[in-house]
Amino acid sequence: MAGGGKGGKRGINTQLAHSGNDPHAYFGWVNPPVVHGSTVLFPDAATMKATQVRNADATSRSRVQPYTYATYGSPTTDALCEAVNALEGSAGTILVPSGLAAVTVPLLAFLSAGDHVLIVDTVYYPTRRFADTMLARMGVEVEYYLPEIGADIATLFRDNTKVVFMEAPGSNTFEIQDVPAMTAAAKERGIVTMIDNTWATPLFFKPLDHGVDISIHAATKYPGGHSDVIMGMVSANAATWGQLYNTQVALGTCGAPDDAYLVLRGLRTMGIRLERHQKTTLALARWLEDMAKEPGSIVGDVLYPALESFPGHDLWKRDFCGACGIFSFVIKDGTEAQAHAFLDALELFGLGYSWGGYESLVTHVYLKDRTVSARDHGGEIIRLQIGLEDEADLKADIERGLAAAKAAG
Ligand SMILES: Cc1ncc(COP(=O)(O)O)c(C=O)c1O
Repeated sequence: MAGGGKGGKRGINTQLAHSGNDPHAYFGWVNPPVVHGSTVLFPDAATMKATQVRNADATSRSRVQPYTYATYGSPTTDALCEAVNALEGSAGTILVPSGLAAVTVPLLAFLSAGDHVLIVDTVYYPTRRFADTMLARMGVEVEYYLPEIGADIATLFRDNTKVVFMEAPGSNTFEIQDVPAMTAAAKERGIVTMIDNTWATPLFFKPLDHGVDISIHAATKYPGGHSDVIMGMVSANAATWGQLYNTQVALGTCGAPDDAYLVLRGLRTMGIRLERHQKTTLALARWLEDMAKEPGSIVGDVLYPALESFPGHDLWKRDFCGACGIFSFVIKDGTEAQAHAFLDALELFGLGYSWGGYESLVTHVYLKDRTVSARDHGGEIIRLQIGLEDEADLKADIERGLAAAKAAG
């Protein structure tokens, strides 16, 4: 199959267009087949037995016959995994049924009773819920750290620390982490590092190049890109791949072929979509930032790492090569009624939680779950997911929302 080796030195859009599938393996069809199946047949008893022996070592993908059972992968899921390995520079990728499963499966793979895990406090809330409920119930000690901690993460290491979990930028407020400093500290102690890299995608940040062991994606967002699929992807370096893959096999949390097909189709256009998301988002973020300077404006801080005014901007500039289409702004000294008035006045922005699709969305941000990094942002926070619509129309919609919020004050 075509993979990283073949397309590795080419431009990113060329890679996205060609990686992950070998048309001549399927009679020349440009796209891989969507293989629906549970059962794979063997030609004879000897091959069946040989395959069973190979399956005892679940890390091995070089089987006596390439496919043995649907939970181990199919031509459709392999095509997507190959494409993602080429983007991430990873030794292997697993597909799981949701972005949240892409968080929980690697945590389950590397944590046992009595272990200690460090998780960034600005993490996606369902990650925290999983840690505080299931990991705690399993006897894992869960500790949250400040996103700005950098190399000082080492001061929190204990003898039983097994995993450092990062998410950069943080959910909803977009704090950037010094990933290389943190992974260097963890490596000295043999601690596994993971990052939820959904915001950046492997186009704007390549975790494994910055020392991270495991890169996590909600493929639901930009890889899928069309708000019609839920899927997660986890990519691992050579050191962690075996344990990740064995856990996936043990749990049976495999990805479905239709979903894999949709995500691979989404990847083909992810580069150009992200260029457009970034361009419109930066324009809107700068426009809101300018508005914040006007006397009497109800717009407060604009939280977007690509803005020079953003506290983590320098780190973002050093490590990332782009910013996606999701950011937040503060309704200065605002009330919940004003935030609701903003949301209810919008005509184009849909009220919805996901992001990464073609359409603009809005949510009123809730931050009360945070513990060590809890702070007052000076008002109510609104998160905008900027879709592929025209900038002028989105501005008009936001203006409508701001007028309503002002009137409700
Ligand atoms: C940062 C981040 N990670 C993971 C997820 C989970 O993705 P999914 O909705 O596919 O479970 C989300 C969803 O919003 C997210 O924002």
